[in-house]
Amino acid sequence: MVIGADAVVGLQWGDEGKGKVIDLLAADYSGVVRYNGGANAGHSIQVGGKRLSVHLVPSGVFHAGSVGVIGNGVVVDPIRLLDEIAGLREAGLPIQLGVRDGYKDHKAGSLVLSDRAHVVLPYHKAEDRLREARLAARAGTSFSGAIGTTGRGIGPAYADKASRANSIRVGDLLDADHLARKVRECCALKELTLRGIAEEAGVPDAEWRDSVDPDAVLEAVRSAGEALKPAIVDTTYLLHDMLNAGDRLLFEGANATLLDVDHGTYPFITSSSTTALGIGPGTGVPTARIGRVVGVMKAYSTRVGAGPMPTELENDTGELIRTRGNEFGTTTGRPRRCGWLDLVAVRYAAMISGVTELSIMLLDVLGSVSEGGSLKVCTGYALECEQETVTTDRFLPDAHKLERAQPVYETVPGWEEDISSATSLGDLPDGARAYIDLIEQSVGVPVSIVSVGPGREQTIHCSA
Ligand code: IMP
Repeated sequence: MVIGADAVVGLQWGDEGKGKVIDLLAADYSGVVRYNGGANAGHSIQVGGKRLSVHLVPSGVFHAGSVGVIGNGVVVDPIRLLDEIAGLREAGLPIQLGVRDGYKDHKAGSLVLSDRAHVVLPYHKAEDRLREARLAARAGTSFSGAIGTTGRGIGPAYADKASRANSIRVGDLLDADHLARKVRECCALKELTLRGIAEEAGVPDAEWRDSVDPDAVLEAVRSAGEALKPAIVDTTYLLHDMLNAGDRLLFEGANATLLDVDHGTYPFITSSSTTALGIGPGTGVPTARIGRVVGVMKAYSTRVGAGPMPTELENDTGELIRTRGNEFGTTTGRPRRCGWLDLVAVRYAAMISGVTELSIMLLDVLGSVSEGGSLKVCTGYALECEQETVTTDRFLPDAHKLERAQPVYETVPGWEEDISSATSLGDLPDGARAYIDLIEQSVGVPVSIVSVGPGREQTIHCSA
């Protein structure tokens, strides 16, 4: 079996800069493939001096020769996908739906969508909001409060997929009668759920009732299905055909390892397999086909939404990182929580995905963030256990355990110079080079890319 694929995955709580890394790599691939998540993800891409965000469309799709593939593991909001395509077309990036003649006759910007991907409907988004409202109202009971989701219906859509009886797949959009029966069934069942949650959380009917109106839902998805029809294919066979013909694929991880449904800080996570392990179930391509796994990390930590973050800085330094790094959510615009680099977390994430190389992003932001000329890096956690303090260098993915962990910091020299025009490691001040070495040694994986700004040219290729 030929190894013909590589992957890019996030090693923290998302927003690591995967979009830039994919943009740097994508030109070498014939297909760029999303395998998890949905419109909760937000990859920023720089096109002709403009900064654009994509949420469902694979961010590497505009490179010469690339087919963008939305695999079966993604949950697709078809109305949002069409809006996104329209926005990209308006910005001068012509997305074409579907490929002809298998995939041989395609142009850059061709997009296909798995017939087995599950559909996010208006009632999933309403349910997401209602469940969050209920959790918020019950904070302080046995629940830990709201998760702080993106509100894009991700959790309810994956829950319906797993419950089997009441989920709609993209392929269902192509059969009008079957779709109509299914939508009516699903709306009736969902109404029962939503009414119960809304009553308990004290949310008025007006805020969710329309989302389960079968006629309205049907009209919206039927026309979206018609519009997307040319793009809907069996992507599993397409991907294997491409690999067997010697074409290379790049898998784009969305969200990130510490938000993974199994390996993240449960329950403060998203609902999909965000690591490289998710590629198999999310596309039908076995992991044995994958060679390079590029783990993308920021030079510090950020998190959006609730949940433990041992190195969070709720002080001026945290604020400085937020301002200098423009740390506001791509999908929701929320300010991100900021803190020192947590190497315990990154080492764990690299282990889970079998990362073969690291991309360190936003290193420039740390210049002049130093406290008294120094930066801090978390290399272990301290925990109170039966009146004793124990330290560990292992991550604690259970949120309730991680909440009790105190970071153990190593203090390292900072730097004040502006490094945003550095193009080689030799251009960096000693402090920045030592910082990269520390990451490499601690994670045990070589660093191949260091990013010092949003532009393509603001990149150090370490192996070069
Ligand atoms: P959901 O995926 O909308 O259900 O949100 C669950 C949690 O994951 C929330 O804390 C979100 O803020 C977070 N999350 C989901 N996707 C991303 C992402 O792409 N970047 C950063 N955080 C994310």
